[in-house]
Amino acid sequence: MKPLDHAVATATKPESRVELKLPLTNETPAGQTDRSTTAPVDDSPYPVVGQVYDFMLPRAAREPDTSHGVILYLENLTVSFDGFRAIDDLSLYIDRGELRCIIGPNGAGKTTLMDIVTGKTRPDSGSAFFGRTVDLLRLSEPEIAQAGIGRKFQKPTVFEQHTVFENLELAMAGERRAWRLLTAKLNGEQHDRIDEVLDIIRLGENRARPAGALSHGQKQWLEIGMLLMQNPLLLLVDEPVAGMTGEEMEHTAELLKHLAGERSVVVVEHDMDFVRSIAEKVTVLHQGAVLAEGSMDEVQNDPRVVEVYLGE
Ligand SMILES: Nc1ncnc2c1ncn2[C@@H]1O[C@H](COP(=O)(O)OP(=O)(O)OP(=O)(O)O)[C@@H](O)[C@H]1O
Ligand SMILES: [Mg+2]
Repeated sequence: MKPLDHAVATATKPESRVELKLPLTNETPAGQTDRSTTAPVDDSPYPVVGQVYDFMLPRAAREPDTSHGVILYLENLTVSFDGFRAIDDLSLYIDRGELRCIIGPNGAGKTTLMDIVTGKTRPDSGSAFFGRTVDLLRLSEPEIAQAGIGRKFQKPTVFEQHTVFENLELAMAGERRAWRLLTAKLNGEQHDRIDEVLDIIRLGENRARPAGALSHGQKQWLEIGMLLMQNPLLLLVDEPVAGMTGEEMEHTAELLKHLAGERSVVVVEHDMDFVRSIAEKVTVLHQGAVLAEGSMDEVQNDPRVVEVYLGE
């Protein structure tokens, strides 16, 4: 049996197969059976001729499979630090293109949750999938970033002595080729991409200024811009507006709303006015688990949530 025939004959899971585009021919060489009339018996509703397991096909990119509309599946996660359960049987799902806010009192496990998704902390049990097929618990931190998950930490980490433009240039290159890139010429496409991101983060007029001269808020946006250079499909943002002025907060709200849709954005934030200004769906964490989930009004009127916040 030729490998393809074998794959056809043994393929049983319809969802794991894709159609293989082969040139069609009506001719059956002499002495051979016409396979179109003797397709292997299969109880799936899909035709089996010309199909193979998708893992046999070359993969151009490691795009997560979000065909069910979900980009992040976290199930029954548990993490203990010295016997203390920071994350306790937590399950959470984020949809493709969603803007999700996560709130909860200090120590609820919000940052630890992001640490698990980005590979910084490994859970004791449970599962974490990016799309349906990328098992995050099997990937290293850089592999997770490469798969399309970007994370913004609370403290901005821009290269202060480099210009805004150069910071974005460095972020595009990734760390390895960074130094060489600064001395090389950008192609037109790369230039356009940086211009596009400068527009999104509204730092076009500051492109030639050293990042160290920016305001706190502008540095935060620059760092978001640096993440965008890697085209993440999921962006995790931890306390983005801490220390910002009212005007900077408004701009950040617009920015995050703009970024959702094309990609999914998860925002952890304590400032309730800010959360209200961007929230579609809010998840309340408490003692390492989901306490409530819904619209801002729904969770704010949930007696369990009120009790947790009053108890602070
Ligand atoms: N590396 C660690 N070692 C020991 N304990 C930790 C570690 N990381 C987190 N914790 C504990 O786990 C709990 C959850 O912490 P986490 O930082 O996730 O909370 P949080 O919801 O982000 O809180 P905050 O709103 O204050 O940022 C806390 O009690 C914290 O002290
Ligand atoms: Mg935190």
